[in-house]
Amino acid sequence: MHITRRTILAAGAVTAVATVFPRPHVAHAALPLTQPALPFAQADLAPVISEKTVSLHYGKHHKAYYDKLNTLAAGTRYADMELVEIVKEAAKSEAAEDIKIFNNAAQAWNHVAYWDQFVPGGPNRPEGDLGARINETFGDYDGLIKRAVDVSDTVFGTGWVWLTRDDDNKLALIGYEDGNNPVAVGRPAYLGIDIWEHAYYVDYENRKAEHIRSVLEKLVNWRVVEERMSA
Ligand SMILES: [Fe+2]
Repeated sequence: MHITRRTILAAGAVTAVATVFPRPHVAHAALPLTQPALPFAQADLAPVISEKTVSLHYGKHHKAYYDKLNTLAAGTRYADMELVEIVKEAAKSEAAEDIKIFNNAAQAWNHVAYWDQFVPGGPNRPEGDLGARINETFGDYDGLIKRAVDVSDTVFGTGWVWLTRDDDNKLALIGYEDGNNPVAVGRPAYLGIDIWEHAYYVDYENRKAEHIRSVLEKLVNWRVVEERMSA
């Protein structure tokens, strides 16, 4: 299963199954939205993600989503919204200008969630109740990794794999195309794995699966994921 923009529009009536966690974005009441600082130094994720990749990914790609969003949303009904509200509102429209705003707002939001979930050196495993739920859903932690890789292969082009909840309200890894994300369809976003080539190609070339495995084994701060689940 993977989610496209058409899926999101078709799922407009989905009821929120959990409160969206308050992070990753600090509250903003008006444009311009400011790209939050990284919660670590750009070299701190190496060797899993190199300083060069973080520099390009954060400093060029992520920044560009904010810049484009601030330009596109100026003078519109989105101008005084918090970022996540822009994502949810723009997802409801098929108008070309709203799709552009959605794409940039979603990617701005997605990447804040992405950076915020990493911690250099770990902790790198779910524990306690969360660990038990992971094992129940995926067999064990390696099962979660394998599932993430399998799901990433269902996304043909650019996109994300998000740990969220499925239609049965169970923990699930779901693939989303482009900048689409769970919050646009009223679902919680616990953990996001960026599978756009800009996230890994400098370091891993075409070895996407190796990148996903390395990130899940060595960088994810599962304490942040626990906070998102309890928010
Ligand atoms: Fe990215």
